[in-house]
Amino acid sequence: MTDNTIWHHVQESPLHGLGVFATKNIPAGTCILEYCGERISPQEADELASHDESDPGHTFFFALSSGEVIDGGQEGNDARWINHCCEPNCEAQENDEGTNVYIVALRDINAGEELFFDYGLVIDDVITQELKNQYKCLCARPNCRGSMLAALDIEKVSGFNQEQFTEQLAEVIPNTPWIAERVWLFRPFSTVNDMHSCIMDVITEATDEERAAFIREITPYHAYNHNHLDDVIGKKIMEGLKQLFSVKP
Ligand SMILES: C[S@@+](CC[C@H](N)C(=O)[O-])C[C@H]1O[C@@H](n2cnc3c(N)ncnc32)[C@H](O)[C@@H]1O
Ligand SMILES: [Zn+2]
Repeated sequence: MTDNTIWHHVQESPLHGLGVFATKNIPAGTCILEYCGERISPQEADELASHDESDPGHTFFFALSSGEVIDGGQEGNDARWINHCCEPNCEAQENDEGTNVYIVALRDINAGEELFFDYGLVIDDVITQELKNQYKCLCARPNCRGSMLAALDIEKVSGFNQEQFTEQLAEVIPNTPWIAERVWLFRPFSTVNDMHSCIMDVITEATDEERAAFIREITPYHAYNHNHLDDVIGKKIMEGLKQLFSVKP
């Protein structure tokens, strides 16, 4: 059954510009609204990126795990006004197909509370102080990361020896030490995206036999076809890497 309740409204936020607020008490687990907008490619998103000098990190983009981007600035709805918080009361959940995103309450939310999700922005560039400032977070919660960028600690890898690296990667891709061996040669990685594309390259360039063994390990219950490398498997590896290199606040 579809729930047509309107749980939210838009008003000025004490944190930044406009924000989205609970109009009534919202029970944990409620699907509050969809994050709507035009689907664009990452290249189009780069071209459209904000040029507002006073707020260069300003964005209405939501990156799907497929790589596509939802641009809330075109055909968007109220969800585009939801601000980021490092201790959010909502979560942006992708559906199983990876095509749509819904804002879901992580806990009971009282009427009048501002709604937040953790943007967890992942960018390809090397994370410099300037970039961190550009994406500075003003949520001021005790566990604020100071930035709207994803809480990823790829620097952890630089302290690993090869054995530790292989062990860690086996958490994401079990029983395929040859992947770790080849990926190791491409260090250092500045971002998780960087490491992810290196892993995908190593897999793409593997022999048919190696690739078949890897696929059995990572998707033992799924029939495989080559198009899956970029979506299902790519997504699974990215989720694993994010988990592995997340900073626990
Ligand atoms: C999708 S908009 C959210 C709506 C925004 N308040 C507005 O009025 O345009 C995202 C932008 O809001 C700002 N923003 C959201 N959460 C923030 C936070 N915790 N700290 C600082 N700026 C934030 C950033 O400029 C970010 O790029
Ligand atoms: Zn914060």
